[in-house]
Amino acid sequence: MILVTGGAGYIGSHAVLELLQAGHEVLVLDNLCNSSRVAISRVERLAGRPVNFIKGDVRNRPLLNALFAAYPIEAVMHFAGLKAVGESVREPLRYYETNVSGSIALCQAMAEAGVFRLVFSSSATVYGETSVMPISEQCPTGVPTNPYGQSKLMAENVLRGLANSDPRWSIGLLRYFNPIGAHESGQIGEDPDGTPNNLLPFMLQVAVGRRSELNIFGDDYPTPDGTGVRDYIHVVDLVKGHLKALERLEQSNGVSVWNLGTGAGYSVMQMVRAFEEVTGRPLPYVIKPRRPGDIAQCWSDPRKAWQELGWRAERDLTTMLADAWRWQRQNPRGYAGEKTGDKKTAPAALAS
Ligand code: NAD
Ligand code: WQD
Repeated sequence: MILVTGGAGYIGSHAVLELLQAGHEVLVLDNLCNSSRVAISRVERLAGRPVNFIKGDVRNRPLLNALFAAYPIEAVMHFAGLKAVGESVREPLRYYETNVSGSIALCQAMAEAGVFRLVFSSSATVYGETSVMPISEQCPTGVPTNPYGQSKLMAENVLRGLANSDPRWSIGLLRYFNPIGAHESGQIGEDPDGTPNNLLPFMLQVAVGRRSELNIFGDDYPTPDGTGVRDYIHVVDLVKGHLKALERLEQSNGVSVWNLGTGAGYSVMQMVRAFEEVTGRPLPYVIKPRRPGDIAQCWSDPRKAWQELGWRAERDLTTMLADAWRWQRQNPRGYAGEKTGDKKTAPAALAS
């Protein structure tokens, strides 16, 4: 059985579905502070199998101990965390506590239970502001410009120290580039609370009329058309990489780092044009000043994951946008139509 922390969230819910479809038993631990129980019900429907779901906090050691005692957990995929960059600047302690202390509590409980295989959700943000593209795993980590990024780098360092201290650990640090898209069914997808921070969720809300126009943050970057360039990766490709990492970690120990990206960069303007093609409608936008903390460009060298995991992203940009658009059209208010009232109910509490 695989313990999936944060399994009700955007990426976690897709991972749970992929794990179930690959024949794994899954236990989800999520406090639902940024997600809905509805996502789990939909995963169950898609997989045709029930999911063991525990509403609780990854920082809750007694709860973790009880879960490891009660279920035959062999490995953990650790998605639970907070991810809003701007919010992390305003509430740094909440970010360090959840993302760093949460990972420490999880590892303590794992070690006590004799479980040493861990797949960790890291981010390309740990590379900081590097100018050499594409970014390979050999590129040194930099100085993330916000507490969110710092918390991911700190958690990576904690996990490295842990693996150095005890050879039984086998840990995969998966550095995501920009996950977008949704499951092809349109049943699960990204459901941001409030105003979306990220590009595609914002574009989708403009397209369904929830917002009037897209703000493009800067058109004077040193990129071909002046707008920021990123490596967007389909969330289903991303989670398939997790399953490959999970398998690979069974045969190795120590820490392994893998970039999960496509290796191709697209500018904001290219995203707008491709999105208009997919939706068949114009996307109104205005050019705004650069967003503080943004880098001009960032794309991956994904070859290490191909060589070592036999994994590479297969879905192209049109598929990413078409799948995201299907999700948004079928669920214009996200999971809210079916909401159980879970979202944002337990951000700080150690609910169990
Ligand atoms: P998400 O917010 O949709 O999912 C995170 C899940 O963790 C949510 O369901 C939330 O309720 C849960 N959670 C948060 N704090 C918790 C706690 N203390 N105890 C238990 N559950 C808790 O975010 P996501 O986009 O699915 O991201 C998943 C992971 O991947 C995060 O760790 C994130 O930092 C990382 N990541 C995401 C991106 C991205 O662009 N989406 C990029 C790089 C890394
Ligand atoms: C992409 C491009 C913006 C919104 C962030 C985090 C990173 C990772 C993923 C998570 C940039 C531009 C955006 C908008 C715009 N995180 N943009 N108008 O900044 O690459 O990465 O999310 O866990 O850590 O930093 O992604 O989608 O916010 O931005 O013009 O309304 O779109 O300037 O060039 P980013 P993004």
